[in-house]
Amino acid sequence: MVRELEFLLIKPDGVRRGLIGEVIRRLEAKGLRIVGLKMLRLTRECAERLYDVHRGKSFYEGLVEFMSSGPVVAVLVEGDGAVEVVRTMIGPTDGRRAPPGTIRGDYSTSVLENIVHAADSEERAKYEAGIAFDPSCDVHDRAV
Ligand code: RTP
Ligand code: MG
Repeated sequence: MVRELEFLLIKPDGVRRGLIGEVIRRLEAKGLRIVGLKMLRLTRECAERLYDVHRGKSFYEGLVEFMSSGPVVAVLVEGDGAVEVVRTMIGPTDGRRAPPGTIRGDYSTSVLENIVHAADSEERAKYEAGIAFDPSCDVHDRAV
C-alpha cells in the first residue's frame, strides 16, 4: 500500500454532539497520523466549493446550508491506503444503513446529519483540504 493523504470534516452535528474527540480517537487508534487539524465555521461560498460535485442535485442546497450552519473540524490524516481505510471507518452515507462499528453506524440515524465527511480520493482530499485550511473560508477569519 502507498502512503496517502485523506481529508475529513467533522460536520456541525458531530461537533454539536461532542464527538470531535471520539472521531479523532478512532483515527489515531487505527494508526493514521494526524497531520492537520482546524476548527472553523465554513462560509457558504466555501461549503459550495467543497461540495461542487453535488451542485444541481436535490439535496445540494440543504447540504450547503447545513455545512455552513455551525463550527466544523477539518482533519488531514496520513497513512497506508488512508482514503480507503477512512471511507471504510465512516461507513455508508445513510446512518440508518451504516453498520455498527462504523462512525456513521454508531452515531447517526440520518442521511444528511451523518457526523463526518471524508474525501473519496487523494486528489479530492488535497482539493478539499485547500479549501478548509484557507483562512478566507472561515467566517471568523475572513477579511471583511
Ligand atoms: P461525504 O461526501 O459527506 O463524505 O458523504 P458520502 O460520500 O458518503 O455521500 P455523498 O453522496 O458524497 O453525499 C454528500 C453528503 O450529502 C448529504 N446527502 N444527502 N438527502 C440525500 O439524499 C442526501 N444524499 C447525500 C450527506 O450529508 C452526504 O454525506
Ligand atoms: Mg462524498
